[in-house]
Amino acid sequence: MRKIIINGANGFVASNFINELLAQNYKVVALVRNSSKYSATKRMNNALDNITNGRYSGSSNLQVYSYSLLDNNFSMTESQLSNIFSGDVDYYHFAASLKYDLKSKDEIFETNIGGIKNSLKIFTENSTQNSRFFFISTAYSCGNIRGVFKEKFYNPAEISEFRNYYEQSKRFAENIVKNEMTKNNIYAHILRLSQVVGDSKSGVTKTDYGIFDFAKRIHGLAYKYPNQTVRVQVDPDSTQNLIPVNTVVRYLLRTVEVQKLPVIMNFVAKNSIKNIHIINSLCELLPINISPVESIDKKEMNAMERIISVGMSFTGGYIKTNIRFDTQNLDKIVLSGGHDVDEHTIFKMLEFFINGLTDKRNSKMLQPAC
Ligand SMILES: NC(=O)c1ccc[n+]([C@@H]2O[C@H](COP(=O)([O-])OP(=O)(O)OC[C@H]3O[C@@H](n4cnc5c(N)ncnc54)[C@H](OP(=O)(O)O)[C@@H]3O)[C@@H](O)[C@H]2O)c1
Repeated sequence: MRKIIINGANGFVASNFINELLAQNYKVVALVRNSSKYSATKRMNNALDNITNGRYSGSSNLQVYSYSLLDNNFSMTESQLSNIFSGDVDYYHFAASLKYDLKSKDEIFETNIGGIKNSLKIFTENSTQNSRFFFISTAYSCGNIRGVFKEKFYNPAEISEFRNYYEQSKRFAENIVKNEMTKNNIYAHILRLSQVVGDSKSGVTKTDYGIFDFAKRIHGLAYKYPNQTVRVQVDPDSTQNLIPVNTVVRYLLRTVEVQKLPVIMNFVAKNSIKNIHIINSLCELLPINISPVESIDKKEMNAMERIISVGMSFTGGYIKTNIRFDTQNLDKIVLSGGHDVDEHTIFKMLEFFINGLTDKRNSKMLQPAC
């Protein structure tokens, strides 16, 4: 069994992957940065505790190191690096800034481009010839593509070709991996994830990204101003490609198990979900009536509609998407059909997520004022 090295290890997707690797007895090296409050080890344990609902009880197969993504040698000692990279390893680069907004442009580029450059440098300098490098990218590095997004490299492009700098930074990063493969002859792979949601079997949802960010905003407003009807600029028939986290983990595990892999794989769901199903679920779960309209003039919006519209300035780029993704390479490694989401599973996930928000809100209200 190869050792698996994972950076950004305390993140949502990485910690779910690590939990499964440990369950299957793999040795895992987790690279996590310290925070001002907690050590890397504490942060990793907290992440595993969170995704297992408190059932994580520690594992001797997990080694946690604190690192600094952008620093020389990750600010680690030579002996730490030689321990980590001893033998053939599979190295997964998860660390990324998932911000979209204009003012975070520098942070997005620094983390997503500076981070991949440094990771590749350290991997190339320290790993054995047969080790493999995996870059976790996004299916939305497709940008504003028309037609099918294939499992191949696309050239870097201007920002006008993308919905935001996050997408553009991931396209750049993929090309940096491509160049490193040619220059230093390393085995590298690009895994492009679509929007990762909760667990398709249990409905447990521990992410507030994408549609859950939208749900969080609507939840706040629905409780502040209950039983209102609001118009939201969303194309009801456009779709979201939502991939359950347990499916992503299953696909990631296949990359560990299969030795000869395609270079690029689109980790996406086979079936997309229409926006109207997400909206209907929210209306059922919250005291609000959302009316999707294709366009509203800002001047005609009421106060609540304006708040929602401002909150959607990042996710808004994804309300008219009907992207088609090629999965021929993915299909070569997946043994049986994935667990996709359908209307029922997405409802269960939103229900879990919203109940969690409501519980938090209620317990805050019960706290005595100081
Ligand atoms: N979630 C999705 O729907 C989705 C979709 C497509 C692709 N992806 C990709 O999947 C990967 C994981 O996403 P996720 O949803 O699990 O994200 P996440 O929970 O936000 O995790 C991101 C990780 O990156 C780390 N990170 C960010 N900036 C860093 C920096 N400057 N230095 C060191 N570490 C840094 C974070 O560490 P801290 O906790 O210390 O900040 C965290 O461990 C990312 O590459 C993302 O682009 C995710």
